[in-house]
Amino acid sequence: MTPRAEWQLAMRRIGRRVLIFDEVDSTNSRAAAMSSDRNNDGLVILADNQTAGRGQHGRNWQCPRGEGLLLSVLLFPPTPLRRPVLLAAWAAVAICETIRRHSNLQARIKWPNDVLVEGRKICGILIEQSQGVVAGIGLNVNQSTETLSFAGLPMATSLAIQRGQQNRDLVAQLLIYQLDAIYDQMNSGDLELLRRQWIDRLDLLGKFVEVEYHRQSVRGTLMDLDWSQVIINLENGTPLCLQPEHILHLHEVVPDSP
Ligand code: BTN
Repeated sequence: MTPRAEWQLAMRRIGRRVLIFDEVDSTNSRAAAMSSDRNNDGLVILADNQTAGRGQHGRNWQCPRGEGLLLSVLLFPPTPLRRPVLLAAWAAVAICETIRRHSNLQARIKWPNDVLVEGRKICGILIEQSQGVVAGIGLNVNQSTETLSFAGLPMATSLAIQRGQQNRDLVAQLLIYQLDAIYDQMNSGDLELLRRQWIDRLDLLGKFVEVEYHRQSVRGTLMDLDWSQVIINLENGTPLCLQPEHILHLHEVVPDSP
């Protein structure tokens, strides 16, 4: 299968080569298939259609041909950056920033891997690790309310629903630019700016939350979070310290009335 187009963008690493396909099984699979060659570090795969798009938790990712952004990046991160929480934060913050710059919309991160606009999912992220790391991004761009409802996603939204029809190539290039800029910052050893943007976009610090980990769920106030620990003051006042990778869900809840 040959790409229908190729871009060579003036980026530091991500997007120096972008292969664009009419149709693939999954852009993640296509990127993973190129991971035996480390020269493909930063390679981006885009497709108009996927016949076997994958979502989180073994689910399918469905998107009508040509309407969404289906993008995967192949990377070979150094060991300290090869952490699911960091890579998820990198992708999610880049998506939020792209949406803000492109459409002037405030996007939020839903732990760990979703991006929401006005409480509705606009983007999902699937990070898979094998020889390299493949970060797959499915961003709803030109889907209508009817298309999303028909796909069984009445609670989802798209850039078109929020702001009218959009140029997908432009959105793709803005996103690649953000992914590259933040990844470059991470490689230079600066994780603090990303941490602040991640915390800001999660919008949970100091809030009463429910956290699900190891098949149990507890409630308390989120006191702090960074790449190595998430600290929650439980309802009985005890602090609970969890490793972010162990947390399945983390979301704000209304405390029970006394
Ligand atoms: C989710 O379930 O929210 C994650 C969805 C990730 C979908 C994207 S689309 C591009 C890339 N290729 C895939 O097969 N999946 C990801």
